This record gives sequence, C-alpha cells and structure tokens, in this order.
Amino acid sequence: MKKTLSAFLTVLFLATFTASGQKENLVSVNQLVVVANHPGPVISKDIYGHFSEHLGSCIYGGIWVGADSKIPNTYGIRNDVLFALREIKVPNLRWPGGCFADTYHWKDGIGPQEKRASIVNTNWGGVTEDNSFGTHEFMKLTELLGCDAYINGNVGSGSPREMAEWVEYLTSDSESPMTKLRKENGREQPWIVKYFAIGNENWGCGGNMTDEFYANTMRQFSTYLGNYAGNQLYRVACGPSDFNFGWTETLMKDGGTRDRFQGLSIHYYSIVDGWGYKGSATKFDEREWFETMRMNLQMDKIIKGHSAIMDRYDPQKTKGLVVDEWGNWFNVEPGTNPGFLYQQNTMRDAITAAIHLNIFNQHADRVKVANLAQIVNVLQSVILTKDDKMVLTPTYHVFRMFRVHQEARLLNIDLRCEDYTNGEKRIPSVSASASVDNEGKVHISIANLNPGKAVVVTCPLIGETYKKAKGEVLTAPEMNSFNGFDKPETVKPAAFSGFLLKDGLLTVTMPSKSVVVLELTK
Ligand code: AHR
Repeated sequence: MKKTLSAFLTVLFLATFTASGQKENLVSVNQLVVVANHPGPVISKDIYGHFSEHLGSCIYGGIWVGADSKIPNTYGIRNDVLFALREIKVPNLRWPGGCFADTYHWKDGIGPQEKRASIVNTNWGGVTEDNSFGTHEFMKLTELLGCDAYINGNVGSGSPREMAEWVEYLTSDSESPMTKLRKENGREQPWIVKYFAIGNENWGCGGNMTDEFYANTMRQFSTYLGNYAGNQLYRVACGPSDFNFGWTETLMKDGGTRDRFQGLSIHYYSIVDGWGYKGSATKFDEREWFETMRMNLQMDKIIKGHSAIMDRYDPQKTKGLVVDEWGNWFNVEPGTNPGFLYQQNTMRDAITAAIHLNIFNQHADRVKVANLAQIVNVLQSVILTKDDKMVLTPTYHVFRMFRVHQEARLLNIDLRCEDYTNGEKRIPSVSASASVDNEGKVHISIANLNPGKAVVVTCPLIGETYKKAKGEVLTAPEMNSFNGFDKPETVKPAAFSGFLLKDGLLTVTMPSKSVVVLELTK
C-alpha cells in the first residue's frame, strides 16, 4: 500500500515540472491523498469513549438527579443528558475517577441509598459526597446508554482484597459473600465489565509512587482480579502522562509485569501557558487559540513515543494504549468553585476534538481506548447543564459527526498542507483522517485550524471510484463562539455543500475554523 501511495505522489510531484523545466502549480498547496482500496486496522469504537468522575457537577446534577427529582429522569438519571449521549454513540464510560478513584471505597456506594455513608470529596472542592450514585447506578447508566463499563479501581488507598471483591461483586455468578451481597442489593445477574483500571495517576494523586513501585503493586493487585462467568476483564495499568517515556519503559520491559495487563493508560491535557494561569475558556486571543492547537498536536508525538517503546516489547501490538484522559484544561468560569473544573466550550474546543480524534484514528493499530475529560460539566465536556437546562457543546457536535469512524477501517492518507503561523511558530493548518465502513462508505474528517482563512483541500481518491458525496460542517462566527444556556445553538452543524467530486478528485473548500466530515459512496 505504501508503495502505491509513494509511486502516486512521485508522479504528482514530477508533474509539477514541465518539459521545459518550468515549475507549474499543478499540486494544490493543501492536498490530502486518500488510498481507498487498501483498508488498514479497525478503528476501535472505544477511542470515542468518555469519562465521568465524582467531580463538581459531572455526576451530581449533570447525570444523576435522583428518582424524586422534578427533572425528567429514568431511575434517577436525567433524560435529556441520556438521550443526547445516545446520539453520539458513547462506546464506553470511565468511572468513578480520576483522582477520586484512588479515594473511593466501593462498598460505601451500595445498598439502600438512605443508609449509605457520606464522605468528603478530598480531591474536588472538599464537598460532601453522599454516595447516592454508586456501582448499581453506574451500571444502570451504562445499560441505558448501551455502552461498556470502564471502572477504575482504587490502588492508592485501597487493598488488593477490596479491588478483587469489587470485580467479584460485579461479575461473578458463583455463590460467594460478594454475589450474595449483590443479590441482596437487588441485582441477581452479574454484569459485564469490559475495562478495569488498576489505579489512576499512581505517580501523583494515586499514591505518589515510583514507576518500579507501581509496577510491583500493579502485579500484586492484578493477580487477584478474576475473570468470572465468561467476563474477560481488559485490565488497564496506570501509565504516565505526557512525555514520561521512562514509566512506559518500566511497565513494558518485564514480561512478568506486561502479562498482568492488556492496556496501558496515558493522560495528556492541553494547558496553555502552564498550570498557573491557564487562560479563559471563552475570552482568548489568537495566540492562545494557536497555542491550544499547537499543544493538541503534541498528542501525535506523545502517542508515537509511547508506541515506539511498546513496539519494542510487543511488536504484535497485543497491548493497547489507553488515552483515558485528554482535552483542553482552562481556568474555571469566574464565580464557580475552583475545585469543580467547570469551563465553557467554544469553537476552539471543537477543533481540539477533531485534531485528537483524527490522531487517534491514525494510530488505530495501537490506540484502543480514549476518554475525553470529562463527559458533563467538567473540563472539555460534551454537555453542560444548569438546573433543568442542558446545552450541547461544540465538542459534542464533533463527536456526533465523527461517530461514523467507529469500527470502520482506517484508510491510508498523505496530507500535505500549508502552515498556519503565529509569530515565529508554525503548525499544519489542516488535520485529517479517513476510514471505510463495512458498507463501503468512505468518511473523511478534516479540520481547518486557521481561524482567519478558508483553505481548499484537494483529495485525489486512489483505488476506488466514488460517485456521490455529502457532508456536514461545523463552524462559527467567532473563534470563541459558544453555546450558552440563553443561546444554545450558536455553534451547530449544518449540511455542507463546499465540495466538488469529479473524475476521482474531491475538492473541499473548508471555511476558516471549521470541521467537515464527508461521506463518499459509489
Ligand atoms: O480530569 C481531572 C483530573 O485530572 C483527574 O481526576 C486526574 O486523573 C487528572 O489529573
């Protein structure tokens, strides 16, 4: 396949010189070659996953209102949020943290709600956590969403026994104290739990461990996590954040450690100007826009770096990279609790989502799971709520548009594009990926990172002929346009007509700061 592509490109670039040696502008400045006849790996639907932590109003208020609430709900889960999330085909949901996970004792959150102990959420604002949303409520949520459960266990302040019993409570069908307890609490049948993480950020809030210490601890905890009643746990070991390749090396180098997990997590947040003043989510200038995109694009280097280490020890790619926290992290909205991490979401966040999802698609051979932080009301959410109101953020719309890539096969692309510059710094102005689904439909997702310039992208389609195309576009009047509770539809997708499909060449005119998803059929 590579040969086909490079041969094609050579022909194209030779064609830029005429017989007289004059350079001709036959090659578009922005060119996206799509090789349609050699599909690559399947894009795991789970890279479109989400993350729900007991943090601010993500769970309480955002998802869980309780069965007695005036807000319409199903078993206590608000209907508006539920229905909206079904639309984006949430494939898996991670819970209960985050940092909260390593302080969470699951037995506090089972049994009659009025008898559950209240605790203090020490990580997030010191608020009272009444444990009314626990294991049964979370599993009900996943059932209602039709998604897989991704549960994050407590290593930092828990014990191997506590974690082992949670897995047994959830998934066993044998007679045991844990299954008896589950049945007493109203659940006869075991649940299916696909993903289970052995701690979260154990180099930080999850116990401040060294890599060697964590590797040994993980081996111990993992030993007691059973596969019951046909449930096959995909164990996720805590990985590093950002560019900490040493941690990955430690987790991967030893076969005895490697054998104890199926996936290795990494976390990466885009934080403009560092952890102090992170900038406003809505009031920013073009430098901050540019810096956000520049940081978003680092995700590719991070994945490549960790993948290269994994490739050395796992060339067959049996272990997945699990990017279970990613997204933009800005200052909290003025007047909100600093521990609640509540931020608005603009067109900038939509481009961020498109950049990341395109990168994850491109790494379909290694990245098997990814979870945006977080699903509702926290960081780069897809949904914001205020009492009984709900808005869908620009990020939500990107997830809805990109859902067509779930379980499709990656297509090889070659993207050459002009740079988008800010001062001395430069980044590519276009981000893209393409896939073919099992009905033969090709989807191409493209983002124009430049907030001040439309770009034309020519797409030669190699190997197959497509006759029809349609598309959707997400763009906005301003870089910082957002959906407020008073104007919930400022940023929303529209049918896209800015393309031409002729003789195997697709020409797409991308408005400034836009995301386009095109569907091609024969
Ligand atoms: O998503 C917010 C926090 O960021 C998570 O709890 C933690 O894992 C990370 O540091």
